[in-house]
Formats: sequence, structure tokens, C-alpha cells
Amino acid sequence: MSLKTGVQQVFINKLKLINFRNYSSLDIMLNDKLNIFIGNNAQGKTNIIESIYLTGFGKSFRTNKDKELIKTSNDMAYVKIQGKKRYSEFSIELRLWNNKNKEIKTNGISLTKLSELLGNISLVIFSPEDLRLIKGGPSERRRFIDREISHINKKYYYNIMSYNKVLFQRNNLLKNISYNRKLLNTIDIWNEKLIEYGCEVILKRIEFINRLNVLSRLMHRKITEGRENLEVKYLSNIKVNNKATYDEIYESFKTKLQAKIENDIKRGFTTIGPHKDDLGIYIDDADIRIFGSQGQQRTAALSLKLSEIEIIKGEIGEYPILLLDDVMSELDINRQKFLIKSLKNVQTFITITEIPELMAPLVKEGSIFKISKGNVIKYREK
Ligand SMILES: Nc1ncnc2c1ncn2[C@@H]1O[C@H](COP(=O)(O)OP(=O)(O)OP(=O)(O)O)[C@@H](O)[C@H]1O
Ligand SMILES: [Mg+2]
Repeated sequence: MSLKTGVQQVFINKLKLINFRNYSSLDIMLNDKLNIFIGNNAQGKTNIIESIYLTGFGKSFRTNKDKELIKTSNDMAYVKIQGKKRYSEFSIELRLWNNKNKEIKTNGISLTKLSELLGNISLVIFSPEDLRLIKGGPSERRRFIDREISHINKKYYYNIMSYNKVLFQRNNLLKNISYNRKLLNTIDIWNEKLIEYGCEVILKRIEFINRLNVLSRLMHRKITEGRENLEVKYLSNIKVNNKATYDEIYESFKTKLQAKIENDIKRGFTTIGPHKDDLGIYIDDADIRIFGSQGQQRTAALSLKLSEIEIIKGEIGEYPILLLDDVMSELDINRQKFLIKSLKNVQTFITITEIPELMAPLVKEGSIFKISKGNVIKYREK
């Protein structure tokens, strides 16, 4: 499970920002192994992580409003990364506007759809929010699953987007049916589409979680030195097991949807489907969302995240770039050590308020950037 094997194939070596968040202008060369951004609170560390994230996903992990990313009183924000992927050079550029849609270019060529950006570079972000993944609500865990699968599977991204569109339409129709029962005749078309997209979504989620289960179990045993057994399970309100086929899911979804129709009309929204599913996380058979200590929950989150790196590696044949925003300070020494040991061969970006002693040997190999009020005031280049 170590990340030592395999050749590092993707890295970013240049980042340029203009009017992005609190940066008027930034142009830095990056280390192909480790980049550490040090600074006090509210200086612009996460903003850097966010800008890199943007080049992988086309949107922020903190907001859905591009406008917030543009430096106050400006019309446009510009982000560009340049790097190497499988020994050839690449660039990704984004222009975010106040009053029109963003423009994205890869290698100088404009993209027509956001989905074309996905998969150009692989990024894994690990933030305090992820450490709280376990304790948060089901919607956060669904977002985690959807983001991870979309990243390695474009078709999934299409299916989940389509599912959500159909869900929105069906919910509108449900509200209208309560005023006009005749409209009930038209619900079958939406049901069919909802079930079709929903089945694809559930099938892929089950497959992903089965793999996540195997990897995170191993990872968790390593971190806890064999003391704890982690298990992750897909919890579907359609009541399908982790070996279900498309046809089984289809039948079950259809039956449940039909059984709930009066309830759905009364409530004005769809109460059955993958938009209500969850990820169950257990240690030695106890649900750690309820029974786990904070430390156990964080360790489980760390195990899940590190497994994700392996899943991406397995799926696309190269290690992703790792963005660690503020996580070191949230982990105890042992877990910090484990994380650091796992970073070999993965280009890593770390934000931190101060460098802990145990990171000192690692730091020698990386570049350090001191961040103050949207400026890199000093940095040591390796
Ligand atoms: N659109 C914007 N225009 C100008 N400044 C902004 C904009 N958005 C955020 N900022 C500023 O960016 C700063 C926050 O940056 P960031 O979140 O990167 O901080 P940080 O260094 O990660 O801090 P912490 O250690 O608390 O996480 C704040 O000072 C905020 O006012
Ligand atoms: Mg921050």
C-alpha cells in the first residue's frame, strides 16, 4: 500500500495568478515533490490550494460562486498552471468573469464544456472538512463519493448530473400534481429516466465503495498497527446489497418508487433514490459516526483519503497531485508521521501555520513559500 513504487508522472511546475482572491499577481515556480505554504491565518494559503484545485475540477471546493474568487473590485480572475504529464508539457488556464461564464483552456485550446476539463490532471484534496467527513451529514459523504468517482469516470459525472436534473423535474411535477391530479399520468416518463440514471449511479457507487473498502481496511490496519478493522458499506434506501446487478437495482428502485408515490406527492419531493443514500463507516462492527472517538474518526478519514490516491493510481495509471490544506495540525504525531511517509512520489502541496519538527527532514527536499497578505514574501527554492 505504500506509495513508494511507481514513477511520478504528473506535476505542476508553475503557478500564475492574477486578481484571484487576495492575490493581485503571483508567479511562482513549484517543486516537483513538495511545496509548503507557511503563513498566519487569513493570509492566502488556502487560496493557493483553491486555485490549483480549480484547474483540476473547474470549480472551487469552498464556493459555487466564481464571483467570490475574483479579487474585490476586479472583473476577471486568471489562473494558470504549467507542468509535465507523462514527460510532455501541459498547461491549464482559467478566466473567471464577473458577468459571464468562465473560459477554460488546456494547452492553449478553449474547452466548450466544463466536463472536458475533468481528468486532465488528477488532484486529491485533503482538508479539515475531510477529517470531519465521518461526523458530517449524509450529503457530505455523498458529495465525497460523487466527487471521487466523477474524477476517475467521466460517464459517472454525466449520469449524476442527469439524475439530478431529472430529480429536479420530477420534484416540480410532484408539487404540481398536488394541485392537479391529472398530471399524475405524466410521471412515468420521469420515473423511467430517474430509475435509469439512478441505477447507473448506484452501480458505480457500489463498485467504488467495494474497492474503497478493501484498500481502506488495509490502510487503517497499518495506521492503527493492526488494532482496528475498518469497514465501509454503501447504504442504499433502495435496499440493494453490494453484489446487486443492474436489473436487480432497477426492479427494486421501480417498486419502491411506485410504493412511495402518494407520500412523495404529499411531501412535494422524491423520497426514494440514490440522492438519499449514505456511506456507512464501521470499526469492529460499530458505527463510528455514532460510537467512534474523534481520533478514530480522523484515522478512518485518513485511511479513506489515502486509499483514494491508490484507487486513482489503479484507475488512470498515475499518482494524483495531493493538496493538503491545514490537515497536519489536526492530526496527532503518529498520524502525521504516517501521512508524511505516504507522500513519497506524489507531488504535494501543504499549507501550515508552522512547520512541526518531525517534518524537518522532509522539508529539506521541498520548496517553502512564506505567505503574507496575498504575497509570497520569501521562499526557499530547492
Ligand atoms: N475575492 C476576494 N478578494 C480579496 N480578498 C479575498 C477574496 N476572497 C478572500 N479574500 C481574502 O483572503 C484571505 C483568506 O485567505 P485564505 O483562506 O487563503 O487564508 P489562509 O491563509 O488559508 O488562512 P487560515 O490559516 O485561517 O486558513 C482573507 O484575508 C480574505 O479576506
Ligand atoms: Mg486556510
